[in-house]
Amino acid sequence: MTNLDPYETLLAETLAACFGHPVVRAFAPFPTAVKRQPLDPHYCPCSDYFETEAGWPDDTYDPLRRALLAVSPTAHWRETYKGTDIGSDFMDRFGCYSIIGPGGPFASDTGRVWMVYMPPDLDYPDHHHPAQEMYLIVSGSAEFRKAGAPNETLRAGDTAIHVSNQPHAMQTHDEPVLCLVIWKDEFETPPVLTSGV
Ligand SMILES: [Fe+2]
Repeated sequence: MTNLDPYETLLAETLAACFGHPVVRAFAPFPTAVKRQPLDPHYCPCSDYFETEAGWPDDTYDPLRRALLAVSPTAHWRETYKGTDIGSDFMDRFGCYSIIGPGGPFASDTGRVWMVYMPPDLDYPDHHHPAQEMYLIVSGSAEFRKAGAPNETLRAGDTAIHVSNQPHAMQTHDEPVLCLVIWKDEFETPPVLTSGV
């Protein structure tokens, strides 16, 4: 059966990726009870980069990547670090929108899920938040850094876990990266840049 609503397709592909991955599934009681909520589209230049990105390798999450792309023109692209000194290049090129949670198309009381997109050669500097967090790499690759652990280059199907308030960062090199980001608690406190790292 063909699902004509791109957001329902996105939800189905997101849940399939999360439930289908043993590490992600074990991380949190993943939200199954989600409800649709009104969505207020918000444009950001990062969506142009995402929609014209040509550097994706073929991988197992292509249906999810296509679903993320399909809703890009109507998504509420976030400006998480607006008003900080992170710089206009980062603000223009770093992409993030909510899939499950405030500002996104779906609501849940038990989890939050965002997509994060970074084009090649972009550094997302150290930041932290009280929420426990998991990244699932959907496509491309990035170098992940976190306090107290060696740097790792992660690719599709790999995961990264960040414990509460652990500073972490990521940098793309030759390839873009596309990720799902999952929080399971402490939803009300947004990430902040980590100073002095
Ligand atoms: Fe984080």
